[in-house]
Amino acid sequence: MSTQPRESSEIIIENLSLSFGTTEVLKGIDLVIKPGEFFSFLGPSGSGKSTLLRAIAGFGPTPEGRILISGEDIARLPPWERNVGMVFQSYALWPHMSVAKNVAFGLEERKVPQAEIDVRVKQALDLVDLADYAHRRPSQLSGGQQQRVALARTIIIEPRVLLLDEPLSNLDANLRIQMRRDILALQRKLNLTTIFVTHDQEEANTTSDRMAVLNNGILQQVGSPIDLYDAPANTFVASFLGTANILKGELKKSGKSSAFISQKGMEIPITKPLENTSAIAIRPQNIHLQPPGKKKTANSFDFKGVVSEVEFLGETLRYSVTVGNESILVDHSHRPGDIIFSVSEEVNVVFAEDQFVMLQA
Ligand SMILES: Nc1ncnc2c1ncn2[C@@H]1O[C@H](COP(=O)(O)OP(=O)(O)O)[C@@H](O)[C@H]1O
Ligand SMILES: [Mg+2]
Repeated sequence: MSTQPRESSEIIIENLSLSFGTTEVLKGIDLVIKPGEFFSFLGPSGSGKSTLLRAIAGFGPTPEGRILISGEDIARLPPWERNVGMVFQSYALWPHMSVAKNVAFGLEERKVPQAEIDVRVKQALDLVDLADYAHRRPSQLSGGQQQRVALARTIIIEPRVLLLDEPLSNLDANLRIQMRRDILALQRKLNLTTIFVTHDQEEANTTSDRMAVLNNGILQQVGSPIDLYDAPANTFVASFLGTANILKGELKKSGKSSAFISQKGMEIPITKPLENTSAIAIRPQNIHLQPPGKKKTANSFDFKGVVSEVEFLGETLRYSVTVGNESILVDHSHRPGDIIFSVSEEVNVVFAEDQFVMLQA
């Protein structure tokens, strides 16, 4: 197996729908994954991530629509003709075979000559740092090592794309962090287009070039982790990616000025209104509390509020503040000596227009 970067494949998914019986679980998915990208499918449990990944690998019901890898529509090919590598959540290693045999398996099936198999098994085990474990059984390995065997077994066939379905979910927290770095490093080394399925936002954020957020079998938004966090397209993405205050309501124009009026009566002046805004999302760390009477900061709004809850989370203090009938979360990063507000204290709730996102229905 060549460990040199090679030509990477592009994946294009066009209008893909898939049903189990009469239940449609993927609905009109359109997606382009660029050559060499580390791409994640992120969404809550049951959102369709595994089903979409399995459709690319060729498992499960035949979808409607097209799946192109390097321009070739593979949507109706059997799995073994697709040349994609998939690592399952359970690893699915053969318990009675040695590590080396497990890794060699795909090449033996393809009738590769034994001498070449030996060389490629050694290279694959080197790549995942398991050269010294070739003769062990899977049961004699730690969870992280088993995961690496599963990876070696998949990359040895030199797949055009690597598909990983929640590959870290069986590992403890520290090992997950180490393994996600190792997987990313391996992906970069091989320059292998990779799709990583996870329900864990941090895992997707730390690894992905770009990611797709799924909910109820519908693609919600695609972009880099930071873009999606800062500019969520809808209330689902805003609240799934971290914490957000979501104020539902509508825009009201009077003469030249506009304002967003929340259903609970909070009125926020808007200089750059977005048509059909039905909600505003603002992250707790983008709002600031000040003692009442302090001079207003330029270009920001100032609402009178009362602190209803204070939670100390270590690096942050999280306040719940009642503003009229709205309850607003505000995060202050905590440093010793900072002012700490207490429950029932009156405060000014301060934020600027460029710190919130207008969302359409
Ligand atoms: N073999 C199956 N038969 C029927 N329904 C299924 C099957 N596999 C998955 N589903 C349904 O499809 C939906 C998406 O599942 P899945 O892709 O596994 O979600 P995720 O991986 O995001 O947790 C769920 O509602 C699930 O119950
Ligand atoms: Mg799944």
